This record gives sequence, C-alpha cells and structure tokens, in this order.
Amino acid sequence: MDIKTAEFTLSAPRVSMCPNDTKPEYAFIGRSNVGKSSLINMLSRNKKLAKTSSTPGKTLLINHFLINREWYLVDLPGYGYAKRSKTEVAKLDQMIRGYILEREQLVNVFVLVDIRLEPQKIDLEFINWLGLSSIPFAIIFTKADKLSEGKVKASVDAYVRKMLETWEEMPPYFVTSSEKARGRDEVLDYIDQINKS
Ligand code: GTP
Ligand code: MG
Repeated sequence: MDIKTAEFTLSAPRVSMCPNDTKPEYAFIGRSNVGKSSLINMLSRNKKLAKTSSTPGKTLLINHFLINREWYLVDLPGYGYAKRSKTEVAKLDQMIRGYILEREQLVNVFVLVDIRLEPQKIDLEFINWLGLSSIPFAIIFTKADKLSEGKVKASVDAYVRKMLETWEEMPPYFVTSSEKARGRDEVLDYIDQINKS
C-alpha cells in the first residue's frame, strides 16, 4: 500500500470534538519527544504534515490526518513530560485516555518507545492499561538510526524479554527511523492488512 494523499482534518481538545466520520483510525502514543509526529510525517512522506519539535510537549491536541481519503492517522499528545503542572498532566491524560476508550473508529494504537532506552515504567504501565482495556496495539521502536545494528537488536531483545515477564506473547512490533524511513513499508502493510480484514 502506498499513501497517495494525506490531509490534515482537524485538531480536537476532546474525543467529542473529533471528526464526524466513521473511517478507521490508527493512533500514535508514547512519551513526549519519542517521535510520534515525525513518524506520521515519515509514513505520509510529508515533513510538514504534523508539527514536530526538539522540545518535548509540542503536540497538545488530538490531530486527525486523512490518508487516501479512506482512513486516519491520529497524532496524540505525549505523556511523561516532567515539566508539566499536575493540572496539565491530568488534562492531557484525560484527553488521551478518553479518546482511546471512547473512539469507536479506533482500530489500532501504536505505542512508540525510544529504542535507545531500557524499558521504561511509564510505557510498560501504559501498555498494561491498553491490555486491560482490550485495546489492540502494536509497539514501534523509534530513532533506530541513533544506534548501531547490534545495539538495535540487543535493545529489541531486552524489550521482548521484559514484555514476556507479564504478557503471554509479544505484540506485533516494528523497528523504525523517521530520519531514514526505516520500517515504513512494514507499518503501512500492517495497517493495510487491518483495513482489509
Ligand atoms: P510531542 O508532540 O512533544 O509529544 O513529541 P513527538 O513524540 O511528536 O516527537 P517529535 O516527532 O516532535 O520528535 C521529537 C524530536 O525527535 C525531534 O527533534 C525529531 O527530529 C526527533 N526525531 C523523531 N524521530 C526521529 C528519528 O527517527 N531519528 C532521529 N534521529 N530523530 C528523530
Ligand atoms: Mg508530537
């Protein structure tokens, strides 16, 4: 599958203000600065589609991008940014979890994790919450260009081991780099398979 058109639809502060449409949606979640918006731009081959920044906390709303006029990529705010007030953290948490639990069109969540870090408690907790909430998800390792191939493999192996401490099987996962467009075909094929099922 390839992406022929990618159009920004709207930014919503809560799930009730998301597009009035029933097309399938694929959402991207993870810690602030992990590379969610960059990945959406890489997949759509449009560096200006989603706003990115080297400073964490760039995306603050639920952003819908219509792909091939058939399905949506959804960019969410990140979690776990230390320099936020308690009220702000609670507001964003409510926005993210409300969208994930209530949006019926949401068919899959991609949880992004930075491949350079050992498994982080905040991500593992979020993944467990998705599992408990019966939300289908896959894991995307980001920024693979920042490690050698040997370290990429070691990092993925460590993550799989950690996941298997609590999960019976490893969910689908992808190694990506938005800089190098690595993992693009694999992620798009995965989406395509779900769209056709
Ligand atoms: P928030 O919206 O703040 O939650 O962040 P985000 O997860 O959307 O991250 P964003 O895409 O804005 O990227 C954060 C920083 O990481 C930017 O400086 C990107 O250029 C950089 N970055 C993202 N993906 C990659 C990648 O694959 N490789 C490298 N080297 N840098 C990346
Ligand atoms: Mg972002």
